[in-house]
Amino acid sequence: MDRIRIVGGAQLNGSIPISGAKNAALPLMIASLLTPETVVLENVPRLSDVRLLMRILGNHGVDASIDGKRVGQDEDHGETIRFTAKTIVDTTAPYELVSRMRASFWVIAPLLARMGEAKVSLPGGCAIGTRPVDLLLMALEALGADVQIDAGYAVVRAPTGGLRGGRIDFPKVTVGGTHTALMAAVLANGTTVIDNAAREPEVVDLANCLIAMGAKIDGAGTSRIVVEGVTSLGGCRHPVLPDRIETGTYAMAVAMTGGDVLLQNTRADLLQAGLDVLARTGAEVTSESGGIRIRRNGGGIAPVDVTTEPFPGFPTDLQAQFMALMTRADGVSHIRETIFENRFMHVSELARLGAHIRLDGDLAIVEGAPVLKGAPVMATDLRASVSLVIAALAAEGETMVHRVYHLDRGFEALEKKLVRCGAQVERISG
Ligand code: EPZ
Repeated sequence: MDRIRIVGGAQLNGSIPISGAKNAALPLMIASLLTPETVVLENVPRLSDVRLLMRILGNHGVDASIDGKRVGQDEDHGETIRFTAKTIVDTTAPYELVSRMRASFWVIAPLLARMGEAKVSLPGGCAIGTRPVDLLLMALEALGADVQIDAGYAVVRAPTGGLRGGRIDFPKVTVGGTHTALMAAVLANGTTVIDNAAREPEVVDLANCLIAMGAKIDGAGTSRIVVEGVTSLGGCRHPVLPDRIETGTYAMAVAMTGGDVLLQNTRADLLQAGLDVLARTGAEVTSESGGIRIRRNGGGIAPVDVTTEPFPGFPTDLQAQFMALMTRADGVSHIRETIFENRFMHVSELARLGAHIRLDGDLAIVEGAPVLKGAPVMATDLRASVSLVIAALAAEGETMVHRVYHLDRGFEALEKKLVRCGAQVERISG
């Protein structure tokens, strides 16, 4: 199994190209199930989650081909991939595949909308919490679907004549619920109103792609989305949005090591809350044409309290990375996690590097320490793993990060991007 070896202490200087967002690419790929025509996605990141979803979609009959011109290009450019679901050959998504990637549960919506039925394995829990799908199923029921749970599967059927527009009022903001509602409503008969919709940029990206395919959607990016169903959708060409979590991750790395890095091909409005917090820690954050510049030259790291919230609040997917930064702050910070109940798995690993963190329910109390020291570490999910990389970059000596496959799910060319800014990072295979 691959490991990553990091020798800490170097400042980061230079530029890092930001990839297309994993969490936008996955629902966009799934949306290709809605049409027999070709959906061409540009700027798709090279990630194991993308490859796995290509396999999963292949089981349903989607032909996915990577544009030859892009193959072998470096990390500055994502891939262009064509998805064609001419015929849906199977409406079942089995446990073996869905259990490997939760987002694949979302195929339930386009399969139901296009084929009138779907049988999709319930995804089960994962390292960051129980993560139920009750609200996704509630949304489908609101459009007239019959929903049964049978032997670990959600079995859904549209009424005769197809899904009907309806009112979906989410009791809690859910990104996956909003993606599901959108993909089901675009082909329903009549109007659907989605209230308390997630406002995440990835929801807006999905809505824009669906609109390019011929859907009628108003209000994406606000709490109320209105969808006027259409009878069929066509193909389109759509670039995947920049990855705001990758942007924030490298921004925090620079804030921690010091230095001056231009994060290219990304935008401040995708993560304003995160950037505001970084500025309060003492980092200099400036928007430039084509990217965001992060600088910290000398000066300490000020402690800042943070609470995770749905967009536009501080994202849960940056909580672990921010905690890494706060382990070196000049004082005590409080980090409250309100989205997932078990997203503090990185705490005990950060402690191995010398961090002082106390947990009290959903609150982490972080006492900044002047020095971290390298150590062997491992983590249980993607964002937790990268928080260890960030801490290691600022730690004295060598850190070996195990279970690198977590990082490969969501960070394209991580080592290369850090090395080009002067970090000492290498992947050790086997
Ligand atoms: C998406 O997960 C992201 N995944 C997550 O990123 C991200 O952390 C999360 O949104 C929140 O921003 C992808 O986009 C692939 P939710 P999702 O439905 O859609 C509860 C990463 O590291 N809930 O918005 O699954 C749920 O338990 C990943 O890239 C229900 O109670 O998250 C949570 O407490 C991790 N019932 C809250 O809502 C439901 O039916 C928000 O979850 C659905 C969700």
